[in-house]
Amino acid sequence: MTTIPVSPATFHISDKIASSVYEGLLSKPKWLPSWLFYDSAGSRLFEEITRTPEYYVTRTERAILEERASEIVAQAAGQNALRLVELGAGSAEKTRLLLSAAVERQDTVFYEPVDVSASALIEAQMRIEEEIPGVLVCPRVEDYTHNLELDSTLPSERRLVLYIGSSIGNFEPGESLMLLERVRAALDPGDCLLLGVDLVKDEAVLHAAYDDAAGVTAAFNRNVLVRLNRELDADFHPETFAHRAVWNAAESRMEMHLVSETKQTVWLPAIDLRVEFAAGESIHTENSYKYQPGHAEAWLAKAGFVHEATWTDERGWFAVCLARAV
Ligand code: TRP
Repeated sequence: MTTIPVSPATFHISDKIASSVYEGLLSKPKWLPSWLFYDSAGSRLFEEITRTPEYYVTRTERAILEERASEIVAQAAGQNALRLVELGAGSAEKTRLLLSAAVERQDTVFYEPVDVSASALIEAQMRIEEEIPGVLVCPRVEDYTHNLELDSTLPSERRLVLYIGSSIGNFEPGESLMLLERVRAALDPGDCLLLGVDLVKDEAVLHAAYDDAAGVTAAFNRNVLVRLNRELDADFHPETFAHRAVWNAAESRMEMHLVSETKQTVWLPAIDLRVEFAAGESIHTENSYKYQPGHAEAWLAKAGFVHEATWTDERGWFAVCLARAV
Protein backbone atom coordinates (compact mmCIF):
# COMPACT_ATOMS: atom_id res chain seq x y z
CA MET A 1 0.00 0.00 0.00
CA THR A 2 1.31 3.47 -0.76
CA THR A 3 1.21 6.07 1.95
CA ILE A 4 0.98 9.66 0.87
CA PRO A 5 2.57 12.19 3.22
CA VAL A 6 0.25 14.84 4.58
CA SER A 7 1.26 18.43 5.14
CA PRO A 8 2.51 19.50 8.62
CA ALA A 9 -0.65 21.58 9.11
CA THR A 10 -2.55 18.35 9.60
CA PHE A 11 -0.68 17.04 12.65
CA HIS A 12 -3.57 17.75 15.00
CA ILE A 13 -5.82 15.36 13.07
CA SER A 14 -5.60 11.63 13.38
CA ASP A 15 -3.04 10.51 10.79
CA LYS A 16 -5.25 7.63 9.84
CA ILE A 17 -8.20 9.72 8.68
CA ALA A 18 -6.00 12.41 7.07
CA SER A 19 -3.82 10.06 5.07
CA SER A 20 -6.57 7.74 3.89
CA VAL A 21 -8.94 10.55 2.83
CA TYR A 22 -6.07 12.27 1.06
CA GLU A 23 -5.12 9.10 -0.78
CA GLY A 24 -8.70 8.11 -1.62
CA LEU A 25 -9.83 11.46 -2.98
CA LEU A 26 -6.71 11.82 -5.12
CA SER A 27 -7.18 8.35 -6.62
CA LYS A 28 -8.93 7.65 -9.90
CA PRO A 29 -11.63 6.47 -9.47
CA LYS A 30 -12.11 8.21 -6.11
CA TRP A 31 -12.78 6.15 -2.98
CA LEU A 32 -13.15 6.56 0.78
CA PRO A 33 -12.45 3.89 3.43
CA SER A 34 -15.58 2.19 4.75
CA TRP A 35 -14.57 2.44 8.43
CA LEU A 36 -15.48 6.14 8.09
CA PHE A 37 -19.16 5.11 8.21
CA TYR A 38 -19.12 4.18 11.86
CA ASP A 39 -18.99 7.38 13.91
CA SER A 40 -21.79 7.67 16.48
CA ALA A 41 -24.36 9.02 13.96
CA GLY A 42 -23.32 6.34 11.45
CA SER A 43 -23.61 3.52 13.97
CA ARG A 44 -27.11 4.73 14.84
CA LEU A 45 -28.05 4.90 11.15
CA PHE A 46 -26.72 1.38 10.59
CA GLU A 47 -28.94 0.12 13.44
CA GLU A 48 -31.82 1.81 11.65
CA ILE A 49 -30.87 0.12 8.35
CA THR A 50 -31.16 -3.26 10.04
CA ARG A 51 -34.79 -2.43 10.85
CA THR A 52 -35.83 -1.31 7.34
CA PRO A 53 -38.17 -3.76 5.57
CA GLU A 54 -35.72 -4.08 2.66
CA TYR A 55 -32.58 -5.01 4.63
CA TYR A 56 -33.17 -8.76 4.91
CA VAL A 57 -29.58 -9.52 6.06
CA THR A 58 -29.92 -9.05 9.83
CA ARG A 59 -33.38 -10.56 10.23
CA THR A 60 -32.61 -13.58 8.03
CA GLU A 61 -29.48 -14.45 9.97
CA ARG A 62 -31.30 -13.85 13.26
CA ALA A 63 -34.09 -16.25 12.23
CA ILE A 64 -31.54 -18.97 11.44
CA LEU A 65 -29.88 -18.50 14.84
CA GLU A 66 -33.24 -18.41 16.65
CA GLU A 67 -34.03 -21.80 15.23
CA ARG A 68 -30.58 -23.37 15.44
CA ALA A 69 -28.68 -21.84 18.38
CA SER A 70 -28.89 -24.96 20.60
CA GLU A 71 -27.88 -27.24 17.77
CA ILE A 72 -24.92 -25.02 16.83
CA VAL A 73 -23.70 -24.78 20.41
CA ALA A 74 -24.11 -28.54 20.99
CA GLN A 75 -22.21 -29.41 17.84
CA ALA A 76 -19.38 -26.97 18.57
CA ALA A 77 -19.03 -28.13 22.20
CA GLY A 78 -19.17 -31.90 21.83
CA GLN A 79 -18.23 -33.19 25.32
CA ASN A 80 -16.41 -29.98 26.25
CA ALA A 81 -17.24 -26.63 27.84
CA LEU A 82 -17.53 -23.77 25.36
CA ARG A 83 -15.94 -20.36 25.52
CA LEU A 84 -17.48 -17.86 23.08
CA VAL A 85 -15.29 -15.35 21.28
CA GLU A 86 -16.78 -12.70 19.03
CA LEU A 87 -15.08 -10.58 16.38
CA GLY A 88 -16.80 -7.22 16.91
CA ALA A 89 -18.38 -6.05 20.17
CA GLY A 90 -21.50 -8.13 20.05
CA SER A 91 -24.23 -8.07 17.46
CA ALA A 92 -26.75 -7.61 20.26
CA GLU A 93 -29.67 -9.95 19.81
CA LYS A 94 -27.89 -12.51 17.65
CA THR A 95 -25.05 -12.96 20.12
CA ARG A 96 -27.56 -13.25 22.95
CA LEU A 97 -29.20 -16.24 21.24
CA LEU A 98 -25.93 -18.18 21.21
CA LEU A 99 -24.90 -17.14 24.72
CA SER A 100 -28.30 -18.18 26.09
CA ALA A 101 -28.00 -21.55 24.38
CA ALA A 102 -24.54 -21.97 25.92
CA VAL A 103 -25.62 -21.11 29.52
CA GLU A 104 -28.26 -23.81 29.27
CA ARG A 105 -25.49 -26.39 28.89
CA GLN A 106 -22.98 -25.12 31.45
CA ASP A 107 -23.09 -22.97 34.60
CA THR A 108 -20.64 -20.30 33.49
CA VAL A 109 -19.87 -19.18 29.97
CA PHE A 110 -16.87 -17.00 29.25
CA TYR A 111 -17.53 -14.52 26.44
CA GLU A 112 -14.58 -12.69 24.88
CA PRO A 113 -15.65 -9.91 22.49
CA VAL A 114 -12.80 -8.44 20.41
CA ASP A 115 -13.19 -4.87 19.15
CA VAL A 116 -11.12 -1.74 18.47
CA SER A 117 -13.56 0.36 20.45
CA ALA A 118 -13.10 0.19 24.25
CA SER A 119 -16.38 2.04 24.79
CA ALA A 120 -18.33 -0.42 22.63
CA LEU A 121 -16.79 -3.26 24.67
CA ILE A 122 -17.71 -1.72 28.04
CA GLU A 123 -21.24 -1.13 26.83
CA ALA A 124 -21.51 -4.76 25.63
CA GLN A 125 -20.07 -6.06 28.91
CA MET A 126 -22.57 -4.19 31.07
CA ARG A 127 -25.50 -5.12 28.88
CA ILE A 128 -24.68 -8.82 28.59
CA GLU A 129 -23.69 -9.46 32.22
CA GLU A 130 -26.93 -7.86 33.31
CA GLU A 131 -29.14 -9.64 30.80
CA ILE A 132 -27.70 -13.15 30.82
CA PRO A 133 -26.72 -14.40 34.27
CA GLY A 134 -23.98 -17.00 33.97
CA VAL A 135 -22.05 -15.15 31.28
CA LEU A 136 -18.70 -13.62 32.25
CA VAL A 137 -17.43 -11.06 29.76
CA CYS A 138 -13.66 -10.78 29.15
CA PRO A 139 -13.36 -7.93 26.64
CA ARG A 140 -10.30 -7.57 24.44
CA VAL A 141 -9.38 -4.26 22.77
CA GLU A 142 -7.75 -5.23 19.51
CA ASP A 143 -8.05 -4.56 15.78
CA TYR A 144 -8.65 -8.10 14.58
CA THR A 145 -8.18 -6.97 10.97
CA HIS A 146 -4.47 -6.62 11.81
CA ASN A 147 -3.80 -8.81 14.75
CA LEU A 148 -5.56 -11.46 16.81
CA GLU A 149 -4.50 -13.02 20.06
CA LEU A 150 -6.91 -14.73 22.43
CA ASP A 151 -6.97 -15.65 26.10
CA SER A 152 -5.68 -19.16 26.67
CA THR A 153 -8.18 -21.89 27.45
CA LEU A 154 -8.35 -24.74 29.94
CA PRO A 155 -7.76 -28.25 28.52
CA SER A 156 -11.48 -28.99 28.96
CA GLU A 157 -12.59 -25.89 27.05
CA ARG A 158 -13.15 -25.25 23.37
CA ARG A 159 -13.59 -21.91 21.70
CA LEU A 160 -16.45 -20.98 19.42
CA VAL A 161 -15.51 -17.84 17.49
CA LEU A 162 -18.48 -15.89 16.14
CA TYR A 163 -17.99 -13.92 12.97
CA ILE A 164 -21.55 -13.17 12.04
CA GLY A 165 -23.51 -10.36 10.37
CA SER A 166 -21.86 -10.95 6.99
CA SER A 167 -19.00 -8.65 8.01
CA ILE A 168 -16.62 -10.87 6.05
CA GLY A 169 -18.41 -9.63 2.91
CA ASN A 170 -16.99 -6.15 3.39
CA PHE A 171 -13.42 -7.37 2.79
CA GLU A 172 -11.79 -7.93 -0.58
CA PRO A 173 -11.50 -11.67 -1.37
CA GLY A 174 -7.74 -11.83 -0.61
CA GLU A 175 -8.22 -9.95 2.67
CA SER A 176 -11.06 -12.18 3.79
CA LEU A 177 -8.94 -15.29 3.27
CA MET A 178 -6.14 -13.68 5.29
CA LEU A 179 -8.62 -12.88 8.03
CA LEU A 180 -9.80 -16.51 8.19
CA GLU A 181 -6.17 -17.65 8.33
CA ARG A 182 -5.48 -15.21 11.15
CA VAL A 183 -8.46 -16.56 13.09
CA ARG A 184 -7.23 -20.11 12.47
CA ALA A 185 -3.76 -19.18 13.77
CA ALA A 186 -5.25 -17.81 17.02
CA LEU A 187 -7.13 -21.08 17.67
CA ASP A 188 -6.22 -24.51 18.98
CA PRO A 189 -7.19 -27.72 17.18
CA GLY A 190 -10.79 -28.58 18.07
CA ASP A 191 -11.92 -24.93 18.37
CA CYS A 192 -14.69 -23.75 16.05
CA LEU A 193 -15.61 -20.77 13.90
CA LEU A 194 -19.20 -19.77 13.14
CA LEU A 195 -19.26 -17.66 9.99
CA GLY A 196 -22.31 -15.76 8.65
CA VAL A 197 -22.28 -15.08 4.90
CA ASP A 198 -24.79 -13.38 2.67
CA LEU A 199 -25.60 -15.32 -0.52
CA VAL A 200 -26.08 -14.22 -4.13
CA LYS A 201 -29.77 -13.69 -4.86
CA ASP A 202 -32.15 -11.81 -7.12
CA GLU A 203 -30.67 -8.48 -8.08
CA ALA A 204 -33.84 -6.52 -7.21
CA VAL A 205 -33.77 -7.88 -3.65
CA LEU A 206 -30.10 -6.96 -3.26
CA HIS A 207 -30.61 -3.54 -4.74
CA ALA A 208 -33.54 -2.67 -2.46
CA ALA A 209 -31.58 -3.83 0.61
CA TYR A 210 -28.88 -1.27 -0.16
CA ASP A 211 -31.21 1.50 -1.33
CA ASP A 212 -34.26 1.42 0.95
CA ALA A 213 -37.34 3.50 0.13
CA ALA A 214 -37.15 5.59 3.32
CA GLY A 215 -33.62 6.70 2.41
CA VAL A 216 -31.89 5.45 5.57
CA THR A 217 -29.07 3.81 3.60
CA ALA A 218 -28.65 6.99 1.55
CA ALA A 219 -28.32 9.01 4.76
CA PHE A 220 -25.83 6.45 6.12
CA ASN A 221 -23.70 6.74 2.98
CA ARG A 222 -23.81 10.57 2.94
CA ASN A 223 -22.95 10.70 6.63
CA VAL A 224 -19.35 10.04 5.56
CA LEU A 225 -19.31 13.51 3.96
CA VAL A 226 -20.90 15.06 7.05
CA ARG A 227 -18.08 13.49 9.04
CA LEU A 228 -15.41 14.92 6.72
CA ASN A 229 -17.00 18.36 7.08
CA ARG A 230 -16.76 18.05 10.86
CA GLU A 231 -13.39 16.35 11.23
CA LEU A 232 -11.45 17.81 8.29
CA ASP A 233 -13.25 21.18 8.00
CA ALA A 234 -14.37 20.17 4.50
CA ASP A 235 -17.15 21.99 2.65
CA PHE A 236 -19.02 19.09 1.06
CA HIS A 237 -22.72 19.72 0.33
CA PRO A 238 -23.85 16.16 1.09
CA GLU A 239 -27.24 16.69 -0.59
CA THR A 240 -25.48 17.26 -3.94
CA PHE A 241 -24.15 13.67 -3.84
CA ALA A 242 -26.58 10.92 -4.81
CA HIS A 243 -26.48 7.56 -3.04
CA ARG A 244 -26.03 4.80 -5.61
CA ALA A 245 -26.10 1.04 -4.94
CA VAL A 246 -24.96 -1.11 -7.89
CA TRP A 247 -24.82 -4.90 -8.31
CA ASN A 248 -21.47 -5.82 -9.89
CA ALA A 249 -22.15 -9.34 -11.15
CA ALA A 250 -18.60 -9.97 -12.40
CA GLU A 251 -17.20 -9.32 -8.90
CA SER A 252 -20.27 -10.73 -7.08
CA ARG A 253 -20.63 -7.65 -4.93
CA MET A 254 -22.93 -4.75 -4.11
CA GLU A 255 -21.09 -1.48 -4.51
CA MET A 256 -21.95 1.74 -2.70
CA HIS A 257 -21.17 5.03 -4.34
CA LEU A 258 -21.72 8.75 -3.73
CA VAL A 259 -22.21 10.43 -7.10
CA SER A 260 -21.68 14.16 -7.54
CA GLU A 261 -24.73 15.53 -9.30
CA THR A 262 -22.90 18.61 -10.58
CA LYS A 263 -19.42 19.72 -11.53
CA GLN A 264 -18.01 21.10 -8.30
CA THR A 265 -14.92 21.73 -6.20
CA VAL A 266 -14.60 20.66 -2.59
CA TRP A 267 -12.06 22.14 -0.20
CA LEU A 268 -10.58 20.19 2.71
CA PRO A 269 -8.40 22.78 4.47
CA ALA A 270 -7.26 20.48 7.26
CA ILE A 271 -5.39 18.32 4.77
CA ASP A 272 -4.71 21.17 2.35
CA LEU A 273 -6.61 19.47 -0.46
CA ARG A 274 -8.87 20.80 -3.21
CA VAL A 275 -10.84 18.13 -5.07
CA GLU A 276 -12.59 18.56 -8.42
CA PHE A 277 -15.70 16.54 -9.24
CA ALA A 278 -17.09 16.16 -12.74
CA ALA A 279 -20.90 15.93 -12.99
CA GLY A 280 -21.71 12.24 -12.49
CA GLU A 281 -18.33 11.40 -10.93
CA SER A 282 -18.47 8.92 -8.09
CA ILE A 283 -16.72 8.23 -4.79
CA HIS A 284 -16.70 4.48 -4.14
CA THR A 285 -17.43 4.00 -0.42
CA GLU A 286 -18.08 0.28 0.18
CA ASN A 287 -18.31 -3.23 -1.26
CA SER A 288 -20.47 -6.00 0.12
CA TYR A 289 -19.51 -9.36 -1.42
CA LYS A 290 -22.20 -11.99 -1.84
CA TYR A 291 -21.25 -15.67 -1.83
CA GLN A 292 -22.34 -18.56 -4.03
CA PRO A 293 -23.47 -21.62 -2.03
CA GLY A 294 -20.40 -23.70 -1.14
CA HIS A 295 -18.00 -20.80 -1.64
CA ALA A 296 -17.53 -19.93 2.04
CA GLU A 297 -17.00 -23.60 2.85
CA ALA A 298 -14.19 -23.75 0.25
CA TRP A 299 -12.52 -20.65 1.73
CA LEU A 300 -12.74 -22.11 5.22
CA ALA A 301 -10.97 -25.25 3.98
CA LYS A 302 -8.21 -23.13 2.39
CA ALA A 303 -7.73 -21.34 5.71
CA GLY A 304 -7.18 -24.60 7.64
CA PHE A 305 -10.65 -25.48 8.89
CA VAL A 306 -12.79 -28.55 8.34
CA HIS A 307 -16.32 -27.62 7.42
CA GLU A 308 -18.90 -29.30 9.67
CA ALA A 309 -22.31 -27.84 8.88
CA THR A 310 -24.15 -25.06 7.09
CA TRP A 311 -27.58 -23.75 8.12
CA THR A 312 -29.61 -21.61 5.79
CA ASP A 313 -33.10 -20.06 5.58
CA GLU A 314 -35.90 -21.44 3.40
CA ARG A 315 -35.21 -18.97 0.59
CA GLY A 316 -31.49 -19.71 0.61
CA TRP A 317 -30.60 -16.05 1.15
CA PHE A 318 -28.11 -16.37 3.99
CA ALA A 319 -25.77 -19.10 5.27
CA VAL A 320 -24.32 -19.77 8.73
CA CYS A 321 -21.31 -22.12 8.51
CA LEU A 322 -19.67 -24.05 11.33
CA ALA A 323 -16.06 -25.06 10.78
CA ARG A 324 -13.47 -26.67 13.07
CA ALA A 325 -9.78 -25.93 13.37
CA VAL A 326 -7.65 -29.01 12.72
N1 TRP B 1 -22.01 -5.06 6.60
C1 TRP B 1 -23.14 -4.39 6.02
C2 TRP B 1 -23.41 -4.99 4.65
O1 TRP B 1 -22.57 -4.99 3.79
C3 TRP B 1 -22.90 -2.90 5.95
C4 TRP B 1 -23.88 -2.10 5.15
C5 TRP B 1 -25.24 -2.22 5.08
C6 TRP B 1 -23.58 -1.01 4.33
N2 TRP B 1 -25.77 -1.26 4.25
C7 TRP B 1 -24.78 -0.51 3.78
C8 TRP B 1 -22.39 -0.39 3.97
C9 TRP B 1 -24.78 0.57 2.91
C10 TRP B 1 -22.41 0.69 3.11
C11 TRP B 1 -23.60 1.18 2.58
O2 TRP B 1 -24.48 -5.53 4.41
